[in-house]
Amino acid sequence: MRKYRPYIVGAVGGVMAAAIVPLSGIIDYDASRGRWDITDWYLGVAAQQSITLRSIWLTVPDLNDPAALQRAAGHYEMVCAACHGSPAGPPEQFAYDLVPAPPRLIVQMDNWHPDARVFWTVKHGIKHSAMPAWPAQLRDDEVWDMVAFLKAMSAMQPEEYARLAGLERPGCASCHAENGEGSAAAPRLDIQSPEYLAAALFAYRDGTRESGTMMAAANGLSDTQIGELSVFFGKSVVVEATPGASIGAEIAARGIPERDIAACDSCHGTGRPEYPRLAGQERHYLIRQLELFNEHGEARGGPQAEIMAQAIRRLPNPENGPLEPEEIEALADHYGR
Ligand code: HEC
Ligand code: HEC
Ligand code: HEC
Repeated sequence: MRKYRPYIVGAVGGVMAAAIVPLSGIIDYDASRGRWDITDWYLGVAAQQSITLRSIWLTVPDLNDPAALQRAAGHYEMVCAACHGSPAGPPEQFAYDLVPAPPRLIVQMDNWHPDARVFWTVKHGIKHSAMPAWPAQLRDDEVWDMVAFLKAMSAMQPEEYARLAGLERPGCASCHAENGEGSAAAPRLDIQSPEYLAAALFAYRDGTRESGTMMAAANGLSDTQIGELSVFFGKSVVVEATPGASIGAEIAARGIPERDIAACDSCHGTGRPEYPRLAGQERHYLIRQLELFNEHGEARGGPQAEIMAQAIRRLPNPENGPLEPEEIEALADHYGR
């Protein structure tokens, strides 16, 4: 026993020292003094290796959809450009004094950056740094759009960036267009009622409806602003769905009775102000929303998400719902533009 005593004393001493050093306050955490010591090196390597390890198994989707750039550009301008700069300008002053400093992604993304690693960084953020996680962890589609955008940004001229991010129309219009007519980046708002839009905005602001982009856009709105914006954009414009017989028209009018999927028009075609209108909506948005309800049910969020989730997937009966990919396409053809 005696011969082990020095080791036991050494081990206990080591543990005590490990606890006392941070408690003593002698480790320098001042951002003003820059960075380059052993703890920073250690944390930096650990972060990079952690991202590599966790991203190895990801399947990268097709990132060649040009509309993805437009969907992500407005979000980049709204959230990321302050720290990372953009083709249109440098970062905000405070970003130069962050430790570690946010890299200029226009330059940085030209280096070795596999898509899966960029995805992991943007979705989960980097602990012990200013790099935040994506606010909506439920969905990956918005994050993949951002990866496609970051890859394209290094070759982007300021004019192209300004066009994609809608810089000539500030505020909500940068994505939703001047009068809420919608764009490749964002859904139409003009076809909805003020009631529906206000309920959606409250849900994004409270973080109960999942969209990183809209959670960021709605975050600072007051109740009064939500009311005013909803009245401004919610014009209840009536658009007819694509006429003629098709699988989409069939499901819209009758549902799919053998799988217990309800007729969409029994709610969406009634003009009731608490239900969103679908006819005339942006095609890509309809597809994304149906995929979200299909995959996640009511976890997609929104004040009435449970009603919608029930309409297309009466689980747990495995014979029922959800919609097949071809059915989603057919519905988007019927309602969308
Ligand atoms: C508050 C500042 C801040 C904001 C806002 C921010 N980042 Fe970062 N970001 C950082 C910092 C700091 C780092 C470097 C972290 C490190 O080196 O440990 C970083 C790192 C990154 C990296 C890794 C670069 C590389 O070479 O591996 C990517 C990619 C990235 N950010 C993308 C984004 C995107 C996209 C957004 C917007 C959704 C965003 N960031 C918003 C501060 C920020
Ligand atoms: C950076 C682009 C961007 C900006 C800026 C933006 N939005 Fe959005 N908005 C989106 C996207 C993308 C969606 C779809 C989100 C989703 O998938 O849930 C959306 C969805 C919405 C919805 C839900 C529509 C529906 O049919 O359910 C409302 C309401 C809305 N936005 C209002 C606003 C208002 C008001 C503002 C200004 C305060 C604003 N948005 C600013 C991109 C944007
Ligand atoms: C029982 C009523 C009901 C039926 C039937 C129904 N829905 Fe819905 N749906 C809703 C409600 C309510 C919402 C709004 C959820 C929220 O955000 O609170 C919604 C939301 C949606 C949205 C998102 C719209 C937007 O602007 O964000 C889409 C797309 C949609 N439904 C498509 C369909 C399709 C396609 C069908 C038929 C297969 C269908 N719905 C059947 C009630 C219904």
